[in-house]
Amino acid sequence: YCTMCTHMGCPVIFEPTTKVFKCPCHFSMFDAEKAGQMIVGQATENLPRVRLHYDEKTGTVSAVGMEGLIYGRQANVL
Ligand code: FES
Repeated sequence: YCTMCTHMGCPVIFEPTTKVFKCPCHFSMFDAEKAGQMIVGQATENLPRVRLHYDEKTGTVSAVGMEGLIYGRQANVL
């Protein structure tokens, strides 16, 4: 996931016990097990996800794109 909140870009914090990303600025919450779905708060968009690719030959993982727009951007460019 992108760790910038979709409301105003504050860094979200992952809580492993609840599997929720919480924003300390205005208290939006995002469900890590439901594709970053916005649960509650000021944000109106889900948390963007990084699309990964696993290469079986080399055993490497690479970021190949984003699902959702990163806060403050007009387009996602990797
Ligand atoms: Fe995260 Fe406002 S910046 S809720």
